[in-house]
Amino acid sequence: MPLWQFCRGLPKAELHVHLEGCLEPDFLLELARRNEVAVPWETAEQLREAYRFRDLGSFLDLYFAGCQVLCDQRDFYELTTAYLDRAHQDGVAHAELFFGPQTFIERGIPVGVQLEGILDAVADAGARTGISASLLVSAHRHRTDDDAFALLDSVGPWADRIAGFGMGGAEVGNPPEKFVRYFAELRRQGFKTCVHAGEEGPADYVRQAVELLGVDRVDHGITILDDEDLVREVAAAGTPLTVCPISNVRLRTVPSLSEHPLPRMLAAGLNVSLHSDDPAYFGSGLADTYTATAEGVGLDRGTLTELARNSVRASFLPHASRQALLSRIDAVAPADC
Ligand code: HPA
Ligand code: ZN
Repeated sequence: MPLWQFCRGLPKAELHVHLEGCLEPDFLLELARRNEVAVPWETAEQLREAYRFRDLGSFLDLYFAGCQVLCDQRDFYELTTAYLDRAHQDGVAHAELFFGPQTFIERGIPVGVQLEGILDAVADAGARTGISASLLVSAHRHRTDDDAFALLDSVGPWADRIAGFGMGGAEVGNPPEKFVRYFAELRRQGFKTCVHAGEEGPADYVRQAVELLGVDRVDHGITILDDEDLVREVAAAGTPLTVCPISNVRLRTVPSLSEHPLPRMLAAGLNVSLHSDDPAYFGSGLADTYTATAEGVGLDRGTLTELARNSVRASFLPHASRQALLSRIDAVAPADC
């Protein structure tokens, strides 16, 4: 069986994908026309030309510009539906979707319009294809912790339909320690938590994420390798790190896939899994991410199977659902893996 077919057929959990990063160029332009939002691109080719990023900041500029075309409940529904259908084709059995309401709240779009559109699509996609998905509400670290608390308040009515809380945005200069109070409150309320740390920021940001915020997962975390003591601590604790190799290359935090630190992370015993981050902007869904990473860094099918198992174990699904998914992986695993 060709590698791409193996990667697609492997049941996987997608734990690090931003819904706003799933806005494909054709759909972005269609929404711009439908909602009469002026955008500086006329064709999907022009838009793809703009997808040459220098760093996280230049990517975030375009990512937030793209968000301008999302306006009403139908838009959020269609965005989520399109992603979940592609993910299902990619062998994603379960997806935890980051979504950042602050972008839209500031434009006056009620949070209910946003979340109901997404949650309806999750329910309908589950009924249609069997894919399971849940929502991770993501705050922006370049805003204040008061803003994060206001976000938490505004999503309160949907709390029982939120799987956890995360945080993304411009990392350097906005360390995890800025949000100690916010994460303490999330934990006090019993929510699962994760935070982007160690993508562009230093290993100390990863240390703050685990020691000061007490998160359940760290998103990216690749710069942890600069701190050997921290690597040993995080490996011993088994804290999951959701690694996105294609994103790292496209945002130039890593020069090429062959130089990606994933093999060193695995060798150090870190609990890593593979994810796509922003598939529309980086041109790679989860099956392609597995395939390209395997080819680029040199992973065999047994290791890919173990990475898929890690993704399921690191998910915020209940124990029984995780076990059921692990059995599905066993059914397609190569002999002796
Ligand atoms: N890092 C930080 N924030 C983000 C990212 C990312 O890779 N993708 C979308 N928002
Ligand atoms: Zn991300």
